[in-house]
Amino acid sequence: MVPIEIADGKGRFDVGSDDVVLRAALRAGVGFPYECNAGACGSCKFQLISGNLVVPADLTPAESERDRARGRYLACRVSASSACTIKVRTDDTYVSQHLPRRFEAQLSDIIPLTPDMSEFVLLSETPAEFRAGQYALLSLTADGPKRVYSMANVPNNRGEWRFIVKRVPGGAFSDPLFRLPTGTGIHVDGPYGTAYARPEIDRDVICIAGGAGFSQMLSVARGLAVSGMMQDRTLRFYYGGRRLVDVPSLKNVSDLAPDLGELRQIIVVSEPEDSAQGWGGPTGFVHDVVGRDFSGPWADNEYYLSGPPPMVDATLRMLVIEKQVPHERIHFDRFF
Ligand SMILES: Cc1cc2nc3c(=O)[nH]c(=O)nc-3n(C[C@H](O)[C@H](O)[C@H](O)COP(=O)(O)OP(=O)(O)OC[C@H]3O[C@@H](n4cnc5c(N)ncnc54)[C@H](O)[C@@H]3O)c2cc1C
Ligand code: FES
Repeated sequence: MVPIEIADGKGRFDVGSDDVVLRAALRAGVGFPYECNAGACGSCKFQLISGNLVVPADLTPAESERDRARGRYLACRVSASSACTIKVRTDDTYVSQHLPRRFEAQLSDIIPLTPDMSEFVLLSETPAEFRAGQYALLSLTADGPKRVYSMANVPNNRGEWRFIVKRVPGGAFSDPLFRLPTGTGIHVDGPYGTAYARPEIDRDVICIAGGAGFSQMLSVARGLAVSGMMQDRTLRFYYGGRRLVDVPSLKNVSDLAPDLGELRQIIVVSEPEDSAQGWGGPTGFVHDVVGRDFSGPWADNEYYLSGPPPMVDATLRMLVIEKQVPHERIHFDRFF
């Protein structure tokens, strides 16, 4: 372990050689800024003032050679080999209610949902403590590739962690995951993420998901429903898939109806001509359909978005620029 000091007395934490600066900070309850935990968004960039870091040779799209020449690094990618002093603007909103920890869980079931999306059920020996809508890093070995996946369920004492994963052909993690036998041990590190359900905010809710974003939106919708605080509020759940065959059953969402004042579910298909069955519902991009389907007032809702970055970015532009929704009413994760 080596100590990391945040300049101007903003905090101190230790990082081990098997950890990265960001996650060590969050484990210690330091509000280090971040979003993706995957080297893609750039939110965790910090300035090294003194000390030695362990830096991967390759660059991600969120960093440049110029950054490194100026001592700027992504905290979710680097470790430290000596005591360091760094500069970063911390914020307590990044401190998770349940501090992230590392543990092993057993793969207990794989439930196919669509041709390339399945639900993976993991069981841990300790309660599954997280906020609905958060995510965890999964890996098959302690030092193997780690990938980020959103929990699809809500916290529970059974130690059950459910993840809905889309198989990426040739993907270093998702592809082998689909071939694992039940009983396999999986390394889990979490919870992380700030796009969690906020039932205490007394507004109607609009959830918008695309592709594997279904996982996080299902968790958010479940978290809102089980809170018992949505009895007289409306939840609109929009899901966009490429073809009809790519759309999972929304029965798990329909099941939440008794705990909600009103539930509206809207499925959008972007390539209906490829669907084996005919599709008479909305077509196109999910954010365009939300823009046409919902008549407002836009600023009176709380928004949760999840899915591929182009889908989330297009939805953010529509909400913030076109519909003038204040940024703080929108909670999102981009699945880089
Ligand atoms: C906050 C967050 C939440 C997420 N939640 C979920 C979730 O709930 N469910 C889910 O399914 N996913 C989720 N993801 C995405 C997930 O983390 C992985 O990125 C995804 O599963 C792909 O990982 P992989 O290892 O299978 O693919 P990777 O090996 O990382 O490959 C990803 C893509 O890059 C291509 N590629 C790989 N190597 C190369 C190369 N050398 N040259 C060119 N192309 C290459 C692959 O073909 C593939 O298209 C989330 C991501 C984030 C950031
Ligand atoms: S959190 Fe480090 S790049 Fe996104």
